[in-house]
Amino acid sequence: MNKFSKISENLIGQKMFQILAQAKELERQGKDVIHFEIGDPDYKTPQNIKDAGCKAIQDDHTHYTISQGLEEFRYEASKKISISRNFLPSVEQILVTPGANIQIYLTLLAVADPGDEIIITDPCFVSYVSIINLCNLVPIKVPLLEENNFRLSPDDLKNAITKKTKLIIINSPNNPTGSVIKKDEMKSIYEIAEKNDIYILSDEVYSRMVFEKGEFLSPSSFDRCNERVIVAHSFSKSHAMTGWRIGAVMGPKELIRRMTLILETITSCVSPFIQIAAIEALTGPHPEVDKMINTLMHSRNTLVSGLNSIEGISCLSPGGSFYAFPNVSELKMNGLEFSDYLLKESFIATCPGAHFGDAGKNYVRFCFATPEIKIREAIDRMRLLFN
Ligand SMILES: Cc1ncc(COP(=O)(O)O)c(C=O)c1O
Repeated sequence: MNKFSKISENLIGQKMFQILAQAKELERQGKDVIHFEIGDPDYKTPQNIKDAGCKAIQDDHTHYTISQGLEEFRYEASKKISISRNFLPSVEQILVTPGANIQIYLTLLAVADPGDEIIITDPCFVSYVSIINLCNLVPIKVPLLEENNFRLSPDDLKNAITKKTKLIIINSPNNPTGSVIKKDEMKSIYEIAEKNDIYILSDEVYSRMVFEKGEFLSPSSFDRCNERVIVAHSFSKSHAMTGWRIGAVMGPKELIRRMTLILETITSCVSPFIQIAAIEALTGPHPEVDKMINTLMHSRNTLVSGLNSIEGISCLSPGGSFYAFPNVSELKMNGLEFSDYLLKESFIATCPGAHFGDAGKNYVRFCFATPEIKIREAIDRMRLLFN
């Protein structure tokens, strides 16, 4: 039997996992690989969160639970939002999900019909295009240019809107460029969405990782997620919990009700013991998380100054996330060639910018959530290779 759907033929998945597989194969052959390819923090989940998860299993929180998520989780999440975003959403505006990726899928399924247009940036997080394709929607790309510090230009956004536009996905701090949208630009973006009556899906999985205090602004501050803003969030990056698969999405009540029904249809609910561990992440002390942001800032500085010290490479300093996105075009190779060469010659695994969109072809993404000593070692290896 060899009959498959058209959708399954066009799926590309997440290419960085293929690079990880290549890097693991080199490690199996005894090579000392330095990893920058995957956006997975090289830190452990805080102990109090692990303990809460283990205790919840021992206490038999191991059955189905309501699809929208434990009331206590949503209550604690809304309290957290009142501190971080300055408004208190109702628990009906929050849906607990297995990570943030599925939140993008649930949102698109709930707001758009096949053929509708979704505005994304180029480059952008790989899943956006895949999910748009999966839902039979049309991606409309707005460039993020290095000369604009990889920030979305509100004018470009305005020009991309048509009668078919349903939603725009923004992501600040950004994967893969590390850019952070300025407050006045965020206001303009919101006003454009309001004027044209379109939704904004604001992917805020890196909102804890902003290096300049006070620089981050969520568009949810304009409508308190009552009208058009949907906030995607998870514990993956902020609490080093990528493997737990836990997050929460916030949006207008009726939209969240519909997204809940879709989640209930696809996966029933999120495991209660995972939710209980995440409640600990919301309420408990987490000095490790604050330390992580500080460590990331040092790592960023080491990586960016190291990359800029190599002739032919130029790298802007990212304002947030844990990614740097250097331009390698002056080395007379594109990002794909550079990344391949670096892995083969120096056993340094990175992710070519082209995987995030055509506009990323001269760039390479480095995830710097990795020990600083490894970053120094990688810079030394690159100096030997290129200088
Ligand atoms: C911008 C962005 N959004 C969403 C996700 C998905 O995160 P999660 O592990 O919570 O599904 C990622 C993961 O890399 C990401 O970079």
